[in-house]
Amino acid sequence: MSRYTELLRQLQEAPRTWLITGVAGFIGSNLLETLLSHGQTVTGLDNFMTGHRKNLDMVRDAVTPEQWSRFRFIEGDIRSLETCREACAGADYVLHQAALGSVPRSIDDPLLTNTCNIDGFVNMLVAARDADVRRFVYAASSSTYGDEPNLPKQEDRIGRPLSPYAVTKYVNELYADVFARTYGMECTGLRYFNVFGKRQDPEGAYAAVIPLWFAGLLRDQPVFINGDGETSRDFCHIDNTVQANLLAATAPDPEATNTVYNVAFGERTSLTELYGLIREEVARHNPHASEKEAQYRDFRAGDVRHSLADISRARTLLGYDPQISVRQGLRISGDWYAANL
Ligand SMILES: NC(=O)c1ccc[n+]([C@@H]2O[C@H](COP(=O)([O-])OP(=O)(O)OC[C@H]3O[C@@H](n4cnc5c(N)ncnc54)[C@H](O)[C@@H]3O)[C@@H](O)[C@H]2O)c1
Repeated sequence: MSRYTELLRQLQEAPRTWLITGVAGFIGSNLLETLLSHGQTVTGLDNFMTGHRKNLDMVRDAVTPEQWSRFRFIEGDIRSLETCREACAGADYVLHQAALGSVPRSIDDPLLTNTCNIDGFVNMLVAARDADVRRFVYAASSSTYGDEPNLPKQEDRIGRPLSPYAVTKYVNELYADVFARTYGMECTGLRYFNVFGKRQDPEGAYAAVIPLWFAGLLRDQPVFINGDGETSRDFCHIDNTVQANLLAATAPDPEATNTVYNVAFGERTSLTELYGLIREEVARHNPHASEKEAQYRDFRAGDVRHSLADISRARTLLGYDPQISVRQGLRISGDWYAANL
């Protein structure tokens, strides 16, 4: 039995109390669904800046009324220390996801990204420290690798950040490390590599590539590839990301905490390849899509050229074992977008 299967069984037998910040967002709402459906008690915090009430409604519809009754929602902002304290009260584990994502957004508005991602982060650390939570797991980012040229990316070798967003995510790691050493907290950072899956938002100027392309092809709208299409990413299905969070929060080995982990699938897909795969999936629902070509345009400022993770640290120390490949994940996501857009 995998460590994750065993963990889900143990949690069901001895439920814990969790806090998920950013619970109305893509990753947060998926964490919520898994935890509630395994009998956990969850507090969620969100200010709906980029998240949606309908994400919470979908989770409510996916779990039983009894499971849903174990969820307490706080509408509030991590930029308020008082709100963070209220949310942390009684939590065993914190899964801190609330932040403003997107490299281009941070280039357009570095101040807003800074206050949410750094001030909000430190508020959460202080509140979690004072509430004596067992472990603080937070969403770090592959953007921290910046201009480091080597592939695959290994946790201890980073370059210079290429965007304000990347700076904030790196500063999170520095603060978590200092809080661990100064106050004896247990903090674990998960450097996500392009997570995708159900409930990832396809709308707005800062939508991520996979939901954007699914929506474009399903709606018969133009689809653009930034750059020459050779830019590559290690796309990771949400179920793998949820697995990494739960393993990181509960890992019994003290060596497994106060560090950062790459969370990815461990395979590289170029944008041109990705377009082909998404088009194939959409063509199952909308046959017109199979003819549709993408339009190539300029590279986007602040983007890393290639990204591929070495996931051996997470495999060894956490027992992380990603089950959903990019192709399988695109199949699941395509069906979901076709049914929900
Ligand atoms: N999706 C990815 O590929 C990816 C990659 C690397 C890192 N991350 C990180 O993972 C986390 C979750 O990302 P996501 O993709 O689910 O994005 P998302 O935008 O769907 O979710 C973020 C949530 O945080 C909430 N939020 C933002 N600022 C807040 C504030 N000040 N107070 C309270 N709530 C606030 C938003 O309303 C939203 O619901 C973020 O920290 C992001 O930086 C995501």
